[in-house]
Amino acid sequence: MDDNFDKDKAIALLNRILEMELAGVVRYTHYSLMVYGYNRIPIVEWLKKEAEEGLLHAHKAGEMITLLGGYPSLGIGPLLEKHHEDIGDILRESLAHESEACTAYYQLLELTQGKSVVLEEYARALIVQEEMHADEVNKMLRKTGKTGVFVRSS
Ligand SMILES: [Fe+2]
Repeated sequence: MDDNFDKDKAIALLNRILEMELAGVVRYTHYSLMVYGYNRIPIVEWLKKEAEEGLLHAHKAGEMITLLGGYPSLGIGPLLEKHHEDIGDILRESLAHESEACTAYYQLLELTQGKSVVLEEYARALIVQEEMHADEVNKMLRKTGKTGVFVRSS
């Protein structure tokens, strides 16, 4: 193993990931309490599942931080508190946050690639999960019958 990579930078990135995943737990829990109407039950289920997944991801990031001998952050990422008019608003906001988290995982991959099998495999596995999740959200933001990828206008 060539462990010649910047450990402090890896710990800082992992702490950012930990904080973002914890923010996801709070956000998805909040969203799940804000959905009403005929479609409520399956959407609330899905949002609660996302909150649980965020917590699992936070635990994993924490394990990687302590594997490197780092101190896990007690902080939490940004919690955008804005009024959501509909589920589309919630999904668009969630897509934006997910893509930020994915960027951090890619940065970790770049930092550890070829230098730490554990961190490289961890980053790759999480990128796959985050991207499949983003695809799931993206498909929910499309109109039935139209297969074109939803593009955020930011
Ligand atoms: Fe995640």
